[in-house]
Amino acid sequence: MKAVILVGGQGTRLRPLTINTPKAMVPVLNTPFLEHVIRYLRHHNVKEITLALSHLAQPISGYFGDGSQFGVRLNYVLEETSLGTAGAVKNAESYLDETFLVLNGDIITDLDITAMLDSHHQRKTKITIALTPVDDPTSYGLIETDVKDRVTRFLEKPSWSQVTTNMINAGAYIMEPDVIAYIPYQTKFSFEHELFPLFLQNDEPIYAYPSTAYWIDIGTPEKYLRLNKDLLNGKSNQYSLPSNKKVIIGEMCHIHPTAQIAGPAVIGSSCTVGLNVKLKGPIVIGPGCVILDDSVITEAIIWQAVNIGRKAEVKGSIIASNCRLGDDSIVEEAVLGDNVTVASGHKLKPGSKIWPRTTVS
Ligand code: GDD
Ligand code: MG
Repeated sequence: MKAVILVGGQGTRLRPLTINTPKAMVPVLNTPFLEHVIRYLRHHNVKEITLALSHLAQPISGYFGDGSQFGVRLNYVLEETSLGTAGAVKNAESYLDETFLVLNGDIITDLDITAMLDSHHQRKTKITIALTPVDDPTSYGLIETDVKDRVTRFLEKPSWSQVTTNMINAGAYIMEPDVIAYIPYQTKFSFEHELFPLFLQNDEPIYAYPSTAYWIDIGTPEKYLRLNKDLLNGKSNQYSLPSNKKVIIGEMCHIHPTAQIAGPAVIGSSCTVGLNVKLKGPIVIGPGCVILDDSVITEAIIWQAVNIGRKAEVKGSIIASNCRLGDDSIVEEAVLGDNVTVASGHKLKPGSKIWPRTTVS
C-alpha cells in the first residue's frame, strides 16, 4: 500500500513552537515527529510515501531527502496555496495508482493499518475511515455508524449538544484511487466538510474501522506534553524508547555526580548538567543544552542548545531551541519559542506563550 501524509497545515494551535518549525518537524523524544510516523508506516510495509506540503516545506525535504535512509521512497508535492485535506490528495494524484492510505500528519498511533487494509478489502468499499474514542469529540470529526460499521453521519467539530458518540475520525483513511475523481482540481476541498458528506448524500458506502489502539494528535502544547509523557511511560507499543532504561543519556554529556535524575528522561548528546541539578521526569532535553548548578527541571520538553542558569526552576513547560533562562528565573506551564531570553530572577506568568526572539525581563 502507498500512503499520503498531510503535512500542509499551519500548526497555529501549536504556536509559538511552529513559527520557525513545521509541526511535522517538532521533536518527539529528540526525533522529528514525522520520522516516527514514517517508521510506523514502514513497519506496516508501506514503501512509498507522498508528503503533501504547503508551507515551511524546505526543513522537511532537507531532512528526509528521498527517504532511502528511512527505508522508503518519498515523493513531495507542494501546494502554492493550501488546497485543504482532499485538495492536497488530488495534488498527489500522479503517485496514487493503487489502494492508498491518507494520514493526517499530526497523529501518533498504534492503529493496526495492516488489519484495517484487510477490513477495507473484505468490504470492497472505496473509503475506510479509522475511528478512535476520545473524551472530548468537539475538537474532532464525530462519526456515527450503523451496527455493520457503515458510516451514517459525519459531523466536523460538533457542539456538545450535537455529540452522540465518543468515536471520532482518527485522521487515517484507506481509499481506492477512483475516489480522487470526486475531488476538483486545484480547488480548496476538504474530506471532512466536503467529500465525506458528499459520499453520504449520494448513498455511496463509507466504512469505519474502530480501534482502541493508542492514538493522540499534537494539536496543542498540552497534547504535545501529553504525547511525550505517554511515550516516555511506554503507553505506545509502536513508539517506545530505543532501550527500556528509565534514563537515557546521549553521547559526550557531562553530568555532575551530584545531579539527580528521576526518569523517565531522555537527554540528548553534548549536554552539561551541573552540581545538584534535579531533573524530574517525564522530561526530554535536546542536544547541546547546559543546565547550571542547583536548577530544578520538572516535566518539561527542552529543545536543543538551551542554556539554563543557576537555581532556575522549570516546570510543565516547553522550551524551544536556543533559549536562555537566567539565574533564579522561574518558568512554569509556559511555552517558549526559539531564542527567547528570560532575565535572571524573573518569574514568568504561568500559562505564558512567548514568541521567538523575545527578551522577558
Ligand atoms: N497539504 C495540506 N494542505 N495539508 C493540510 C491542509 C492543506 O491545505 N490543511 C490541513 N492539512 C493537514 C494538517 O497538517 C494536518 O496534518 C491534517 O491535514 C489535519 O488538519 P488539522 O488542521 O490538524 O485538522 P484538525 O486536527 O482540526 O481535524 C482533523 O483531524 C482530526 C483528528 O486529529 C480532522 O480530520 C478531524 O475530522 C479529525 O478528527
Ligand atoms: Mg490536527
